[in-house]
Amino acid sequence: MLYLIVRAINARRVVEFGSSFGISTIYLTTAVMDNMQSNPGTFGQVIGSELEPHKHAVATQNLEAAGLSDIAKILLGDAMERFQTVEAPEGLGAAGWLEGALPACREAFKTEAEAGCRRDVG
Ligand SMILES: C[S@@+](CC[C@H](N)C(=O)[O-])C[C@H]1O[C@@H](n2cnc3c(N)ncnc32)[C@H](O)[C@@H]1O
Repeated sequence: MLYLIVRAINARRVVEFGSSFGISTIYLTTAVMDNMQSNPGTFGQVIGSELEPHKHAVATQNLEAAGLSDIAKILLGDAMERFQTVEAPEGLGAAGWLEGALPACREAFKTEAEAGCRRDVG
C-alpha cells in the first residue's frame, strides 16, 4: 500500500514518522526510486525516524543491505524533535501522525539534503 501511494502521487521526497525496522522504509524508497526513473533528472530522498535505538540500528542495517543508504536515511530519536521545521513534503507520515508530523518534517529535508542523503538520476 505504501508503495502504491507514493507511486500514485509521484513523490520523490518522503518523510516517515516511525520507521521501526525499516521494512516500510524500503517500500517507500523503492517507490521513490521508481518515480525517479519516470522523471529523469530529478533526485529522490526518503527520511525516516525511529525512537528506539535497537530498531534504528536494525533499520539502518536493512537499508544498507538493500543498497538504499544513499537515498534513504533513518534519524534516531523523537521525530517531533528531529523534524522540527520540513518545507511542504510530497511524502507522508507512514505511522499516521501526519498532522503533527508535517511541521516537524520540514527541517529534516533541509538538514539531510545538506548531508547528501539523496540520489540523482540522469
Ligand atoms: C507501528 S510502528 C510503524 C512501523 C513502520 N512505519 C511500518 O509501517 O511498518 C511505529 C514505530 O514508531 C516509533 N515511534 C513512536 N513514536 C515515535 C517518535 N515520536 N519518533 C520516532 N519514532 C517513533 C516506534 O518505536 C515504532 O517503531
